[in-house]
Amino acid sequence: MSLYYNYEEASIGYDQARIADGADFMCALFSGLLKKDLSQISVLDAGCGTGNYGLAFLKNGINQLTMIDASKGMLECAKKKCANYKGKVEFRLSILPVIDFPSAQFDVVTFTQVLHHLDSPTVSCSFHDHPRCTEAISQAYRVLKPGGLLLIDAMFDENFNSIWWGPFCPIAFNNMKALRLNKSNTIALLKKCGFSDVTHISRPGACLADPSVYFKIENVSDPKWRAHFSQYKLIESSGELNFLIDLVEKNILEGTLEVFRSKVFENFFLCGDHSMFVCKKY
Ligand SMILES: C[S@@+](CC[C@H](N)C(=O)[O-])C[C@H]1O[C@@H](n2cnc3c(N)ncnc32)[C@H](O)[C@@H]1O
Repeated sequence: MSLYYNYEEASIGYDQARIADGADFMCALFSGLLKKDLSQISVLDAGCGTGNYGLAFLKNGINQLTMIDASKGMLECAKKKCANYKGKVEFRLSILPVIDFPSAQFDVVTFTQVLHHLDSPTVSCSFHDHPRCTEAISQAYRVLKPGGLLLIDAMFDENFNSIWWGPFCPIAFNNMKALRLNKSNTIALLKKCGFSDVTHISRPGACLADPSVYFKIENVSDPKWRAHFSQYKLIESSGELNFLIDLVEKNILEGTLEVFRSKVFENFFLCGDHSMFVCKKY
């Protein structure tokens, strides 16, 4: 389960803000790289959350989908969402890094926005600071069939430039970076676990959230709004929240909020807020 965020509570409002951004592109990758029709491809969605990606995979034609998550609440939402796909989808409550399935079972394993919840280093210098991520990735290797693909979707180096509050909350920002594997450490780790053809794919404009919710920073003082995004937990813990709230409120009072919003989100669409690694087990 997440080391810093309560997904049982978050499951209630999660879908008001989050979307399965890039899911169609991911399906095209699976089919193209595996040279198989999606109906022939089995996927393990590890850390599936409320099933937004899972549902999109099923809609695209994936025929066998296994969804695991450490949160009962998130998994219940996923079950409801995928109720029309009975027989094609299996759900299991399961805590990474354990992946309790037989070896060589899946064509694809996905970790979308989950690995940063597994370890909590305060500084990250190498993948050795991420022992649970390392174990989860090596378990993914084990459960993949030869020729299978691992997809990791996360926030990597350049995506940090999309974080609007980064310059104002340096402690939380550094903590956020430390939780995540950077690109070079991810490449080293994937290779160590046996993966080949390691490729990083970035899509300008990639946005995990519904922009109509995410960009409403005038709501930063509202705990219900902040609860949509685990990043605000880091600001609450760092003691920088009041400064951020005051800054936004000052801009509201002075009538400069729109100028402020445009400035702080200047980089967002250029770098996107997430990107992915794809790699292969030979
Ligand atoms: C940010 S959400 C991502 C959900 C989904 N993959 C998506 O992209 O919409 C992170 C998910 O990881 C799950 N999670 C966190 N730690 C976990 C662990 N140790 N094992 C399994 N799931 C975990 C949480 O319960 C939550 O559903």
